[in-house]
Amino acid sequence: MNTITPRLFRPGAGALPPALTGREVEKGVLSRCLADLVVGAAPPHDVVLLGPRGNGKTALLTWFRDACRNASVDAVSLTPHRIPSHEALVDVLAPRKGVAKWLPRKIGVAALGTAEWNLEGATAKDLTQALINRCRRRPLALLVDEAHTLAPDIGGLLLNASQQTRADAPFLLVLAGTPGLPDRLDAMDASFWSRLGEGLLGIGRLDEAAAREALVKPLAAHGADIDRSALDAVVEYSQCYPYFIQLWGDALWQHRVTTGGTTITVAAVDAVGPSAVSRVADYYENRHRELSAEGLLTAAAAVAPLFQTRREATATHRQLNTALAANGIEDDAERVAALAGLCRVGYVWCPPGQVPPVCWRAGIPSLTGYILENAAA
Ligand SMILES: Nc1ncnc2c1ncn2[C@@H]1O[C@H](COP(=O)(O)OP(=O)(O)OP(=O)(O)O)[C@@H](O)[C@H]1O
Ligand SMILES: [Mg+2]
Repeated sequence: MNTITPRLFRPGAGALPPALTGREVEKGVLSRCLADLVVGAAPPHDVVLLGPRGNGKTALLTWFRDACRNASVDAVSLTPHRIPSHEALVDVLAPRKGVAKWLPRKIGVAALGTAEWNLEGATAKDLTQALINRCRRRPLALLVDEAHTLAPDIGGLLLNASQQTRADAPFLLVLAGTPGLPDRLDAMDASFWSRLGEGLLGIGRLDEAAAREALVKPLAAHGADIDRSALDAVVEYSQCYPYFIQLWGDALWQHRVTTGGTTITVAAVDAVGPSAVSRVADYYENRHRELSAEGLLTAAAAVAPLFQTRREATATHRQLNTALAANGIEDDAERVAALAGLCRVGYVWCPPGQVPPVCWRAGIPSLTGYILENAAA
């Protein structure tokens, strides 16, 4: 009988990796917020996780959700498609229990003496009251993924209710999204940003030590290892990009399951190279399609040369603008829109918390090379 091959690495969107390495600063900020909730206090700020696709925002949210639940703090995970209306938001955050859920909202809640709101359009006050009631019974962390797609009116309601709830009860809002999230939040609540402090976190590629650990640790836990040259090669190919690390790890693990042996060598890296490279190419092609569908291909190709010199290359805002203008995007408003679009899809981004001068980076450096070669295709 065939035994099922265990999948060790997790190259799927949102999958918790076998070792969530790096992210010490981010885990530290989230853990301090959790410590506040545990003792019934409100953290001093909300948390916003910003980063290009595939860097581990969802994985970090999942890690935090589990940490909350282990500490007996309620954690509700949401994506914007689950909250298409004000009423849906209230229903998710303050669900009615027992007989109340069979009664019309207004009668039901009034009869049971809990929060009261207007079925025709929940307001921040209604939601705040319902949230305060809930959080006083048990602290709550609300984790909203893909928050850059929040409808402005629903996001605005949520942000207002969050700030007011935090003033009175142990509540934490964590938002995660692409680098387009700040634009979306600005459209909801202008004052939100100034109060985030250390709660604004950029989720970019891992540092080299964390990238190595992401491969070595899971292998070691399963009695396997990888020699120095093979590890160097995989870290180089993956560019410390979490999604590519999982993808290479998966290919190497499957190879090891088939061939046996405990040490992964360069020969194994060479053997799985073609399949790993073709999965990376599929990923580039999806990003190419996304840029094309968003009408951003010309802008993406225009700024790509700025990021070709080395993997950590950065560009100033002025350099990006000059590159866009030189490639036919001459109108100011069009350039602003193009840069906002590139940011929204995480092709380029400006990591928060930089010491001036503020610099832009490529979300995935090697993607810029791919776009340069294939933009016209
Ligand atoms: N710290 C980490 N260490 C190792 N692997 C990681 C880490 N963070 C994420 N990964 C892996 O990277 C991949 C991408 O992670 P995830 O889906 O969480 O990214 P994301 O930022 O949410 O992307 P998207 O914006 O597309 O939703 C997953 O395979 C995940 O297991
Ligand atoms: Mg995600």
